[in-house]
Amino acid sequence: SERTLVLVKPDGVERGLVGEVISRIERKGLKLVALELKKVDRQLAEQHYAEHDGKPFFESLLEFITSGPVVAAVVEGPRAVSAFRQIAGGTDPVDKAAPGSIRGDYGLEVQYNLVHGSDSAESAEREIKLWFPEF
Ligand code: GTP
Ligand code: MG
Repeated sequence: SERTLVLVKPDGVERGLVGEVISRIERKGLKLVALELKKVDRQLAEQHYAEHDGKPFFESLLEFITSGPVVAAVVEGPRAVSAFRQIAGGTDPVDKAAPGSIRGDYGLEVQYNLVHGSDSAESAEREIKLWFPEF
């Protein structure tokens, strides 16, 4: 069994899609092992998205992710990293995310793509330490 870090980003919280995201995680058979509503400060945002430092959208991404509360969760299950990325859909909600995925069903723009999921077991370990240091 594996763990992954999931975020419902500020757009998802603002649009009232927290329940929908959690429901899809649960229906897939994955398990919530930590859950918190959190205001994200600049430092946490920079650390979380460090891999994107220097990209043209970095500043805009930081502004977005700190613009309102997010729901952070640790999700556990067999192949949890890939399983959640399947539920989420590809990064671009229109060009990449399949219908039936969270982004495919609810997203329109690449930045406002509703959810985050760790992209590997190593990223998950790093991100879980960052978001849930006590975990
Ligand atoms: P995360 O789960 O949030 O990490 O998404 P991802 O792994 O599918 O995509 P990636 O890590 O490559 O990008 C991180 C986030 O940056 C994306 O989820 C988008 O919110 C945003 N993003 C990625 N590419 C672009 C882009 O070209 N323009 C803008 N404005 N935002 C982008
Ligand atoms: Mg990513």
